[in-house]
Order: sequence, then structure tokens, then C-alpha cells
Amino acid sequence: MKTEKKGLTIAIDGPSGAGKSTAGRTLAKRLGYTYIDTGAMYRAVALKVKEKGIELKDESALYQMASSLHITFVPMGEEIHIYCNGEDISEAIRLPEISHLASEVSKKKGVREALVEIQREMAKEGSAVLEGRDIGTVVFPEAEVKFYLDADPEERAKRRFQELMARGIQIDFQKTLEEVLQRDHNDMHRAISPLKRAENSILIDSTHRSVEEVVEEMLKKVEEKRR
Ligand code: C5P
Repeated sequence: MKTEKKGLTIAIDGPSGAGKSTAGRTLAKRLGYTYIDTGAMYRAVALKVKEKGIELKDESALYQMASSLHITFVPMGEEIHIYCNGEDISEAIRLPEISHLASEVSKKKGVREALVEIQREMAKEGSAVLEGRDIGTVVFPEAEVKFYLDADPEERAKRRFQELMARGIQIDFQKTLEEVLQRDHNDMHRAISPLKRAENSILIDSTHRSVEEVVEEMLKKVEEKRR
């Protein structure tokens, strides 16, 4: 039986550090929608790959593990905590090592198939904001509103650097910039579901804009669709 959709499906895609998470979380809160951070799901897979010592070439083990994950997003004050199989993994998945590994596991067909299936199930009723790299192109190509959020690489690296420092992770800026550029390259050039702008997406450049300004613009576009 087809599930009745209640509200809109909103896709936010773009490279790392463009501000997708903060804007997506705020937008979902303002609309009373569910927020789904798909990057956190690829990070959860990376964490489990590391913990369980799964070989990246073992596609079937990767698919089995990824499809068995039970991931939930739990709002706590201004933050959203990510639970995987009952464990709070919010901090562990933000380490630079896991960012790199997430980009590697996200190239794998088995991982993408498993996670896309879970993401479609999570948002099947609509009233959802999903952020990632392939939401408007692959996961929900029929999403009513699609945003592509971008910013200059230096600005994105600066945000990532500040986020890591705030978490007490010591890293130098040049290394952060290199990591951001490397991840952009990986995500845009992989064979399956590479990061690219969906044809009918709305481009927002967040380089010189605050989160509030970005969210206001998004809300305006969403309201136009709802009319
Ligand atoms: O968004 P975030 O930086 O947390 O994503 C971590 C990694 O997960 C990205 O670099 C990308 O390789 C992968 N990813 C993806 N598809 C998505 C979301 C994230 O491939 N929809």
C-alpha cells in the first residue's frame, strides 16, 4: 500500500562545510519537519567498519552491516544526537579519521544501496528535510523543493576548523583545507551517485551569509511551493 504523504520533502545537497547541517536543522525545526542528516549515516557506517575491522573490498559484508544499522536522530536542546543501535555516536563520528573513512565507504555500492533504502523508508511520509550529497538526484529526485548549498572552499575549511577546535580536536588549518578539498574531489568524482547539482535545484551561496539569512531564503522558497 502506498503511504500518504503529509508534507513536503525538502532536499539539501552540497559539499562539506557549506552549512547544510545547521541550516537543515533550523529549517526542519521552523517547519516542524523531521530532519535527516544522511552524512551522519555514512559516518556511522565508517565507525562500524573501523570497530568491526570490515574490509572495504568485502561488498557483501558492507551491505549486511549497513542495512542492519538502526539509526535515530534525537533532538537535545539546540543539538541533535545521533544514535546507532542504541549507542550515542554523535562525538565519535566527527573525528577527522572518520570523515575520511566515510568518504571512502560512501563509494561502495552495497553501502549506498543499504542507506538509500533506509533513508527512503525514514522519510516516506514527507514533512522531512534531508541533507547530503545525492538527495535531490538519487534518494528523492521527486522532492518538491531542492536546495544546493555551496560556499568558497576557504570559508568551508574555516567553519570545519572552528567546529573541530570547539570539540577540542587539535588540527592545523592547512590540513583542514586539504582534507576538505580531498573530500570534495572524492565526492564529486566517484562512479556511483557523485555530488552534483540537481537540475531543478535552487543554488544558495552561503560564503558571506549567516545561517539565519540562509534559512530565511529557504523558508521563502518553501512557502512559495506550499501556496
Ligand atoms: O555531510 P558529511 O560531511 O557528514 O558527510 C560525510 C561523507 O559522507 C561525505 O564526505 C560523503 O562522502 C558521504 N555522503 C554521501 N552521500 C550523502 C551524504 C554523505 O556520499 N548523501
